[in-house]
Amino acid sequence: MTAKGKQILCIGLVCLDIINVVDTFPVEDTDTRCISQKWQRGGNASNSCTVLSLLGASCGFMGSLAPGRISDFIYDDLRRYGIAVPNVIVHAESSFPASIIISNISNGSRTILHTNRNLPNVTSEDFRKVDLSQYKWIHWEGRNASEQVAMIQQVVQYNANVSAEQRITISVEIEKTREELYQLFGHGDVVFVGKDVARHFGFNSASEAVKGFYSRVKPGAHLICAWAEEGADTMGPDGLFHSNAFPPKKLVDTLGAGDTFNAAVIFELHNGKSIQEALTFGCQIAGKKCGFQGYDGIV
Ligand code: ADP
Ligand code: FRU
Repeated sequence: MTAKGKQILCIGLVCLDIINVVDTFPVEDTDTRCISQKWQRGGNASNSCTVLSLLGASCGFMGSLAPGRISDFIYDDLRRYGIAVPNVIVHAESSFPASIIISNISNGSRTILHTNRNLPNVTSEDFRKVDLSQYKWIHWEGRNASEQVAMIQQVVQYNANVSAEQRITISVEIEKTREELYQLFGHGDVVFVGKDVARHFGFNSASEAVKGFYSRVKPGAHLICAWAEEGADTMGPDGLFHSNAFPPKKLVDTLGAGDTFNAAVIFELHNGKSIQEALTFGCQIAGKKCGFQGYDGIV
């Protein structure tokens, strides 16, 4: 297969988002009527697949699922977006992870109540079955990081035995403040670090974060940090770059803004664009997304 025909694979969570749209955030112990309520496929890696697909990239999702009615809804939706799922692992004994989301259209805020009782993450053993020759880029949403490092090592080994143009680019996202995830800094060609992690380490801006974390990434890697209405910054072998945010006329829904940003950056880099172009495009597409509910209007 030529490098051009290959897919982008995103590995991580798919869950059910039950979205409750309100125009005033509810007061505790009150009975509020929502503007609307709907089911949406969620999870960082799954959302990034949605955006990649809408942008026109050929992409696949790898993650775990629990069978049942929710899983039927999720499969239908993945199919609707043309997202390939040859590597989904079904756990018959588990329940499907779900989030209750309060989406406030007055300011775009999204309040998430997430539950994941017992669905195991993808393991390096599961990953061994993946046909790596299908992929040009693999993105990991940081979860079970030690296993994910073992998966990345399989890719590194694969890359060592193929020509330069067949090599797979590795990206990772470190979004949650969990010690285990920090080992991922050293394993991506492209590393996305979230602002919560940055703040946890005492950084007050994206530029402080990329400078402060840069010693943790491998030589030649790009470290990227998005910071809501402040835009995003990156540090890499060519230095420091910044993009302002592109705020929509009205902020409506910031759910999945980060997943959208990651997907748009990956899309641009995958298409050979420069890091500055990728950063700017990431902010443009993520900013646009914040102007409406869901993902369907980004292109
Ligand atoms: P998340 O909290 O979903 O991980 P971030 O807050 O890091 O996402 O935002 C990701 C990107 O989305 C930002 O770099 C920015 O481009 C865009 N974005 C998010 N919130 C806003 C906002 N309020 N106004 C404009 N752009 C935004
Ligand atoms: C958004 C999201 C939602 C999901 C939650 C899980 O980034 O992936 O779709 O419910 O985060 O933490």
